[in-house]
Amino acid sequence: MIPKNRREKLLSQFDEGALVIISTNPEQYRNGDVHFPFRPHSDFWYLTGFKEPEAVAVFSKDYYTIFLQEKNLEREIWDGERLGVAKAAQTLNANQAYPTNKLKVQLPQLIKEATTLYYDFKPCALDDEIIQCLDGVKTQSLGEHLHEMRLIKDDSEIALMQKAADISVHAHQLAMQQVKADLFEYEIASIFDAEFRKNNTEHAYTPIVAGGGNGCILHYIKNDQVLNNGDLLLIDAGCEVGGYASDITRTFPVNGKFSKAQRQIYQIVLDAQLAAIACIKPGEIVTKAHQVASQIIQQGLIDLGILQTDGYLSQFYMHGTGHWLGLDVHDVGSYRQGKQHRQYEIGMVTTVEPGIYIRKSDKINSIYWDIGIRIEDDVLVTDNGNSVLTKALVKEINDIENLMK
Ligand code: GLY
Ligand code: MN
Ligand code: MN
Repeated sequence: MIPKNRREKLLSQFDEGALVIISTNPEQYRNGDVHFPFRPHSDFWYLTGFKEPEAVAVFSKDYYTIFLQEKNLEREIWDGERLGVAKAAQTLNANQAYPTNKLKVQLPQLIKEATTLYYDFKPCALDDEIIQCLDGVKTQSLGEHLHEMRLIKDDSEIALMQKAADISVHAHQLAMQQVKADLFEYEIASIFDAEFRKNNTEHAYTPIVAGGGNGCILHYIKNDQVLNNGDLLLIDAGCEVGGYASDITRTFPVNGKFSKAQRQIYQIVLDAQLAAIACIKPGEIVTKAHQVASQIIQQGLIDLGILQTDGYLSQFYMHGTGHWLGLDVHDVGSYRQGKQHRQYEIGMVTTVEPGIYIRKSDKINSIYWDIGIRIEDDVLVTDNGNSVLTKALVKEINDIENLMK
């Protein structure tokens, strides 16, 4: 669906007098005069398709006005070409376009004509300007409605997600084939940097490349340690295409051969992941995958004597089994409908990512110390169950060992 149709679909849920205001992300300084690479706000990108900073979209059933940066020869010499006001209305399918610095003077009139304003307060400077103009106009959350739309992906969005998945799968395959003892985590991370850039894509999130015990640090991003013979390597990395993320984790032995203890723990995680993926289908409750995965992991750890029957599973498995995936890696959309947990519907995309993380402890046999394993795939809900977008990437023990030979 193109942005125009998305705006129309959104507005079709609202009264005649509804007005939507949405701004993109601000630019962020990294240091001195240096910016982080700009990424539009996902909601704004979804509704406008516009990727420049400093933009605000205002639309109702009758009109669409885009406010954007003016052309500025000097700034464009430094930062690159801007669309500019003159071409914006036609390019972006809007009725009118104005420079962003005209928003403040136009806001009172725009808001005055509305009965309900759909806007998400952030906070930011625009919030204050809007509040000053409200004068009795009701406000409602935009995200509540918009995020329900974003939760269900159409064919064009799924195609982008499949492309992101394919590029990420290939990068993970290269990492499995190229890893060896004494390389550093950042050398393996550079495989992902290169593959993603070669395909004109970007990381959807900061990658985790974690050897040995670092795999037990859930948000390990330093990626600067040496990889030791006999250790596992956990890699959580994915690119985004057209803004749509992939999110993949694989865990494999640095030397290409799982030890007995690694194999035991890995097989529990894999069994949990496969059982959880089987729960992803239309009509199934979204909490089921986590229940099923947790139960398998709990029993597996008890059988190995790692977890006591009255012990806490959260000591070894302390995160959820998945999250929505889309324009944001932890994508928008509620996990509930009213007071109930919601059910999967066709077009939703979720990750499935159980794990086991065993830190050093006198209470645990040392053969299991520093084993951190997560297996993560991206799963689309389809009419006959699900389709794993990342299924091309091996995860059975034998398949991993064969690929690494
Ligand atoms: N890569 C982020 C996550 O798995 O949630
Ligand atoms: Mn994830
Ligand atoms: Mn991940």
